[in-house]
Amino acid sequence: RQAVAAGVLVNVESFREVRPLAEASQALGLPARVAVRVNPDFELKGSGMKMSGGPKQFGVDAEQVPQLLQTIADAGLAFEGFHLFAGSQNLRAEAICEAQQKSYELALRLAQDAPAPVRFLNLGGGFGIPYFPGEKRLDLAPIGDNLAQLLQRAQTELPQAKLVIELGRYFVGEAGVYVARVIDRKVSRGLVYLVTDGGLHHHLSASGNFGQVVRKNYPVCIGTRMNDSSVETASVVGPLCTPLDLLADRMLLARADVGDLVVVFQSGAYGASASPQAFLGHPQCVEVLV
Ligand SMILES: Cc1ncc(COP(=O)(O)O)c(C=O)c1O
Repeated sequence: RQAVAAGVLVNVESFREVRPLAEASQALGLPARVAVRVNPDFELKGSGMKMSGGPKQFGVDAEQVPQLLQTIADAGLAFEGFHLFAGSQNLRAEAICEAQQKSYELALRLAQDAPAPVRFLNLGGGFGIPYFPGEKRLDLAPIGDNLAQLLQRAQTELPQAKLVIELGRYFVGEAGVYVARVIDRKVSRGLVYLVTDGGLHHHLSASGNFGQVVRKNYPVCIGTRMNDSSVETASVVGPLCTPLDLLADRMLLARADVGDLVVVFQSGAYGASASPQAFLGHPQCVEVLV
């Protein structure tokens, strides 16, 4: 109701959401502004996380959208457009372009059943950042060209539509580092363990437990020994009672000791907010804006 009163554009994700929006609209005498989140019948190829194609919990299946549009019209809501988000963490420009083109074409088809012209078309995002060895930075040039072509088409095919992309980690992922202090150094059957005061509970994604199928190390270094030439293979672990609490698995690192600082790069997205900070009651991490 607050969203409707504030004139927020609400992305409708299911048939059920129409009724409370209609009730709020009636109570306020103000039709809710809505867009429909569509679960398309294609996926974003090569994504770290696929969020479309086949059965999905996100949005409404494309084939059910005409019926939803009718329901929205009957409820007197102010239809404004479509939202598609096909996947996340993609480093292949051609796959992103393909998904954007398919999203646009699908929206164009669905617009034929819409109760009002499309004024808002969210083509999603999925722009990835490099985390692991061998990964290359996303080439934005072809994506820019592709969007320019779609904008050109939209001028005649969807003349009232504003095209939108929805980026997350691309903006902030590389801007943040996570720092934990070494509180112990142990050797177990030949492998050096650096135990830190942080870990999975602060940075679930760096531990590999936020959707990695095969665990890979984030870029990690010993921040207090950047100029040291003495290196060794070590694992960086946290203080929790699970072997999943791992920040670096057998990495070549500067030789570190108690008090040194372990730095994990690419940590500006899916860090503290995506982590079970209360697990085992250790202190929460501190976020500092520099
Ligand atoms: C709807 C939606 N928008 C944006 C994002 C942000 O994705 P990313 O951080 O990969 O850009 C997500 C992530 O899952 C999402 O589900």
